[in-house]
Parts: sequence; C-alpha cells; structure tokens
Amino acid sequence: MLTDNLKILLASTQSFAIKSQNFHWNVEGSNFPQYHEFFDTLYGDVAGTIDRIAEYIRILGAYTPGSLSRYAELSIIQDQIKIPRAELMFTETLQDCEKMIELVVMMFQEAANENQQGISNYMAELQDLYAKKAWFVRSILRKERE
Ligand SMILES: [Fe+2]
Repeated sequence: MLTDNLKILLASTQSFAIKSQNFHWNVEGSNFPQYHEFFDTLYGDVAGTIDRIAEYIRILGAYTPGSLSRYAELSIIQDQIKIPRAELMFTETLQDCEKMIELVVMMFQEAANENQQGISNYMAELQDLYAKKAWFVRSILRKERE
C-alpha cells in the first residue's frame, strides 16, 4: 500500500539524515573541509524532504510514525554505529542513495497507479535529488587521472 511505503520512505529518510549528520561530524582526511561541507549539505537536503513525506501520510488518512524505534523497524537504510574512514562513508552513502532511488522509482509508479499525481511528482523530485547526490559521491570516490 502507498501509505505503508510512505512510512518506509519516511523512516529511511530519517535514518539517511541521521547518518549524513554523523558523517558530517566525524569525517576525517586531507579533504576534510570539502567532506565536512558535503555531508552538511547532504544532511540539510535530505532532512528537508522529511516533513512533506510525513504530511502525505496524513493527507492519505493514515497516522505518521514519529518515534526512533518505529523508524528503526521500518527503515531500509542500515544504521551506522561506527565511525568508518572517509572512503567507506562515501561508499556507504552511494549504496544508500541507490536504495533510496530504487524505493522512490517503485513508489512513483505506485502513486501514479492510484492517481496520486502530487505524490508521484514528489517521488520524481526525490529520484533527481538522490541521483545528483550519487553523482557527487561517485565523483569524490573516483581516483584522479594524471
Ligand atoms: Fe555542522
């Protein structure tokens, strides 16, 4: 059901945002200023999508989950309790972006099938957001050609 998937998307977005903030605080390396800044922007952009997802759940008549334990149950984004080194933070972020894209692409179709065109449009926006972030991360992970 669309509301069930919106709950999964909400929980996954919360997890993604928390992880980005963790990486923003704890990343280290010779490119620290750019990495620190990148994860800050990533956190802000992802966190900025939370409220609209939550409100769609209410618009469809369901209640919106709002607790950390429910988010942990529902999220498809694995929590990170360690402090990985920078390269692993980026590799994990790339995999997480790909998971988010897979989810919103599926939900785009589901929402369109239910004539929820606004939700469908928003899923398309989220696909663009995560695709752009994935491009940045792939470019950061790419070894420079000399
Ligand atoms: Fe900060």
